[in-house]
Amino acid sequence: MNIGFELNGKPTTLEIEQRETLAEVLRGRCRLTGVKISCEAQVCGSCTVLVDGLPVSACTLLAYEVRGKRVTTIEGVADVSGKLHPLQQAFLDNFSFQCGFYTPGMILAAKALLDESSNVTEEDIVAHMNGNLCRCTGYLPIIKAIRQAAVEMRGRK
Ligand code: FES
Repeated sequence: MNIGFELNGKPTTLEIEQRETLAEVLRGRCRLTGVKISCEAQVCGSCTVLVDGLPVSACTLLAYEVRGKRVTTIEGVADVSGKLHPLQQAFLDNFSFQCGFYTPGMILAAKALLDESSNVTEEDIVAHMNGNLCRCTGYLPIIKAIRQAAVEMRGRK
């Protein structure tokens, strides 16, 4: 079947199998390997992408369900000049990753939170990031990075 949607700001049309997940299509057909697949059961958050601005697990969403929608992966988060998003910069500044496998999903989940409101408390961040696991970093540098990015994003408004 054919689907049309917006992918990282660009109109995109793809021929897909009806049974393919969004994660499979983004990685396999679009070569967007920032979408990581781990548990394949909507538990770890590594495959998080944004659909119409909201975080979803691409491992369990069938690709045809994004027809007509806006999909953002980590490859579409920096601005067009290549300048990193405040969250990407904050993750670097705070060493908020180790192997980095779960980082794209973390950044996209955090982006959804801060796009809605950058006026967030640590409790808001912890509650929102509940569905994103990381095996090696520890969560404190991640929370610190999201708080730094929130301050930066508030300053831009
Ligand atoms: S791979 Fe999708 S939630 Fe774990």
